[in-house]
Amino acid sequence: MTVPDIIIAVDGYSSTGKSTFAKLVAKEFAFLYLDSGAMYRGVTLFAMEKGLIKGESIDEPALKAALPELELHFKHGEEGTSLWWADRCIEKEIRTMEVSGWVSPVSAIAFVRAWVDERLHAFSEGGRVVMDGRDIGTTVFPNAELKIFMTADPAVRAQRRYDELIAKGQKANLEEVAKNLSERDYIDSHRETSPLRQAPDAYVMDNSDMTLHEETVWLRGLIQGKFGILE
Ligand code: DC
Repeated sequence: MTVPDIIIAVDGYSSTGKSTFAKLVAKEFAFLYLDSGAMYRGVTLFAMEKGLIKGESIDEPALKAALPELELHFKHGEEGTSLWWADRCIEKEIRTMEVSGWVSPVSAIAFVRAWVDERLHAFSEGGRVVMDGRDIGTTVFPNAELKIFMTADPAVRAQRRYDELIAKGQKANLEEVAKNLSERDYIDSHRETSPLRQAPDAYVMDNSDMTLHEETVWLRGLIQGKFGILE
């Protein structure tokens, strides 16, 4: 199936399978996959390593002063997409529970969002991009040609994230994972700057009971209907 040079925005709650779906889309249609959540995780790791998260709070003035020195970029290879902090691959470190515990408050900071948005736009020059996150269809690319909003049952989502962590050899506790997800959902959808919202022109996918194959069939149908395509 040939798809025009568009931007596909995939938003939704934590652990609804956005990145799995977006990666699948990228592979199927030869699009560039960009994970906006990884950028927020990268900033969080940076703040933690620089000692800017002290006790229960983030030293926002110090983070603002330090942010210009942070250089984050994606590498796209056979193995998929990975996030790099200068010459260091941080793809694994940004997925720990510790980073997950701080990423929502860090991503609620307006200057952090502006910093990330600027980079997401630069990375997307040229189009043919599928990007997943929380505010891609509402704020980052409000004119994206195709917007998808993903949701799933909270228990299904917690189990998925738990399985993912265990498969990566990380320690995890199902109750803690569920708590982290619901806290992040709350912070992400109640923050002042670009909260998680379904764009009015987004197509909703509830994948609680869908297989990946069914998700692909759903998307093909959507693209065919919307763009009237093709072979
Ligand atoms: O997709 P993820 O779980 O890796 O995202 C991590 C956090 O980053 C998430 O809790 C909220 C934040 N985020 C955001 O605020 N806006 C985005 N576009 C993507 C992620």
